[in-house]
Amino acid sequence: MAACWPEPIVSVQALSQTGLSTVPNRYVKPAHQRPVYNSDAEMEIPVLDMSDVWEKPEGLRRVRSACEEWGFFQVVNHGVNHALMERVRGAWREFFELPLEEKRKYANSPETYEGYGSRLGVVKDAKLDWSDYFYLNYLPSSIRNPSKWPSQPPKIRELIEEYGEEVRNLCERLVKTLSKSLGLETNHLMKAFGGEDKVGASLRANFYPKCPQPHLTLGLSSHSDPGGITIVLPDENVAGLQVRRGDCWVTVKSVPNALIVNIGDQIQILSNGIYKSVEHQVIVNSGMDRVSLALFYNPRSNIPIGPVKELLTENQPALYKPIRFDEYRLLIRQKGPSGKNQVDSLLASR
Ligand code: OGA
Ligand code: NI
Repeated sequence: MAACWPEPIVSVQALSQTGLSTVPNRYVKPAHQRPVYNSDAEMEIPVLDMSDVWEKPEGLRRVRSACEEWGFFQVVNHGVNHALMERVRGAWREFFELPLEEKRKYANSPETYEGYGSRLGVVKDAKLDWSDYFYLNYLPSSIRNPSKWPSQPPKIRELIEEYGEEVRNLCERLVKTLSKSLGLETNHLMKAFGGEDKVGASLRANFYPKCPQPHLTLGLSSHSDPGGITIVLPDENVAGLQVRRGDCWVTVKSVPNALIVNIGDQIQILSNGIYKSVEHQVIVNSGMDRVSLALFYNPRSNIPIGPVKELLTENQPALYKPIRFDEYRLLIRQKGPSGKNQVDSLLASR
């Protein structure tokens, strides 16, 4: 992997703060990738109550249909403290409001992506997204390096840990829930992930600055998440996440205090395509900055992940070739977001 970026990094937030009235060409997407604002925007993605997914007979059925049909759902009664959600989001907002020199102390490189950055992928002359981010490794704890985490605002490191632990608990419950909803033994998927103490997790705080011409660009281009499951803490005030539904893009209207869950490519592979990792993207707007926090919960990085045998039948043979997650995620790190091309490239029939 290249040790440095192909072009000098420009902070999109700093660019936005210059008050420019047009979007520089680097960020102008080709017409077919530009945002579509359609009337399906009012559709609600499924909302699941974590306190009854196991207790009520229809609970697991609702999980299953959300994962088959949407690949996305929101969870309420998820066990993550609401005040903590607000505090961690606030702390990240304060981090992005720091002077650029302070943030630049954490400037990242494409080798590990850890730190403050403004692009995904190392393709020279690529069209870029209208966002900055901070990426950090969270699990396994052996690769956690808090000295690479921001030291300002003052409480941010403690908040990241506290929030990370609560979301990690939620992810463990969700992976068990997905396992049961597929008709597998409760711990089956977790074992396939390499076990609770071996899984990987990383965190990405996203900052989507105001944009003078939001119809020409995207905050985050269409992609599916490469990992296991993703938990997104959305901005409380600003919508922006869009989920593909057939030929439409549905803008997620988040329920107060809910977290957004989406299925990543590794669950699509393990479930042999029964569960879908659905394409999504982020649109920006001219009035407000948006902050979101994504926690990616992934299989252990060095074991092969392939379709679960118990889900295969004569009529449904294995669709995907097994691959290790560390190998799999190189592609998005090199090419940047590219729809669903990557998981499709593993189709055994190719
Ligand atoms: C991501 C992502 C959505 C958002 O970070 O992979 O899809 O709302 N984020 O920021
Ligand atoms: Ni995503």
